[in-house]
Amino acid sequence: MKLWAGRFQKETDTLVNQFNSSIDFDSRLYRQDIEGSIAHASMLGKQGIIEEHEAEKIIAGLRQILAEIDGDGVEFSLDNEDIHMNIEAMLTGRIGDAGKRLHTARSRNDQVAVDTRLYVKEEIPAIIGCVLELERVLVKKAKANLDTVMPGYTHLQRAQPTTFAHYMMAYANMFKRDVTRLEDCRTRLDECPLGAGALAASTYPVDRFQTANTLGFQKPTDNSMDSVSDRDYAIELLSALSILMMHLSRFAEEIILWCSWEFKFVDLDDAYSTGSSIMPQKKNPDVAELVRGKTGRVYGSLITLLTMMKGLPLAYNKDMQEDKEALFDAIDTVELCLPVFAAMVDTLTVRPRDMARAAAGGFINATDCADYLVRKGLPFREAYMIVGRLVNLCIRTGDTLDTLTLKDFRAISGLFDEDVYQALALKTCVNERKVYGGPARESVLTQIGLIEDFIAQRKEEQA
Ligand code: ARG
Repeated sequence: MKLWAGRFQKETDTLVNQFNSSIDFDSRLYRQDIEGSIAHASMLGKQGIIEEHEAEKIIAGLRQILAEIDGDGVEFSLDNEDIHMNIEAMLTGRIGDAGKRLHTARSRNDQVAVDTRLYVKEEIPAIIGCVLELERVLVKKAKANLDTVMPGYTHLQRAQPTTFAHYMMAYANMFKRDVTRLEDCRTRLDECPLGAGALAASTYPVDRFQTANTLGFQKPTDNSMDSVSDRDYAIELLSALSILMMHLSRFAEEIILWCSWEFKFVDLDDAYSTGSSIMPQKKNPDVAELVRGKTGRVYGSLITLLTMMKGLPLAYNKDMQEDKEALFDAIDTVELCLPVFAAMVDTLTVRPRDMARAAAGGFINATDCADYLVRKGLPFREAYMIVGRLVNLCIRTGDTLDTLTLKDFRAISGLFDEDVYQALALKTCVNERKVYGGPARESVLTQIGLIEDFIAQRKEEQA
């Protein structure tokens, strides 16, 4: 029999029963649900809303149920619809009448809100931990490749010289922002909706500060209607995860390009690549491709929640039950992608000679050539024109700037001297870019230091 059967004259239709039930996916919240119920029961007892000994009985019963689920697991029932009613029914089944007092001054609406917040609050540090591990890998790769010159691109056309270290630190900065976004989200969600009831709190003398405190929240939420209607924290998390996946996906795309024969900038470790069922020569970057592919799932979850919420009048609506699968899937996906991605980057081999080969073609020192003339007194715009003509000449003769003779240079501008070759050497081009944030060894070392501090600070806070 349903908990609410009193109001009804008929049984719920079987199909509706299945349709309405969320136990298949919200059973994952059992621990948070029990934690919330224990805090609630203990508060009810302390406030004299229920007898202390009943509260104790409830708490002992809940602890036992938790141990059972953690242990061999239990069969949840579809008839009890969701995790909240399943656990309540189990409790009453075990301890009898005292169990029926647990739901005093509470609704499933504040219950599900507190469960989900607790869940998200726990997952965020886990995700941050995975991102920091990736940061560690990027720092390691950067340190090993401070002088590994490679072409930097715009429009996927060779543009200016950079190093693999500089490249890795570009991604490290993206992931650093991802971490801070996740931290912001966690700070903002740190308020406890328990005690908001269905929407209008209750007439009992509940102590919401006490339950908030027991559950480790900063404070209770400030408005009971908002408390049960709000899914901002889930949407914020999904936004942060979408941006994080976007970064991973861009990185994945680069790796896919880099390990193609056209680039050959990196080799993936055999353990992180796959073969083809028909083409014996193939070594495919499936891990990177899957990460790129799974990005769509996470965006999908974000759009699911935004769309689900956009037309909902206050306060709770059953539409909101749809938040969980999307939220869980996004969290699972990110937690799946990050470690395998970090390991793939960690184990890949960099091919400095192929990078140097690509860097040597494509005139990535053309800007430096113009800068050389600027140092000799020419306005940049004029220098730019001259180098454009030089490049044009090279393309016709099959040369690069550094294979031109001094005579070729001088034919176009008398300002060129023997020292132009030194100025055009890619090593010089990189190491002269020692601006804050630039690719020069010393600038990249500063960037590495910043990320290392960022990681260390968080490790310290965790400890
Ligand atoms: N299973 C529900 C959910 O996930 C719990 C809240 C149900 N509340 C209600 N008023 N029907 O949203």
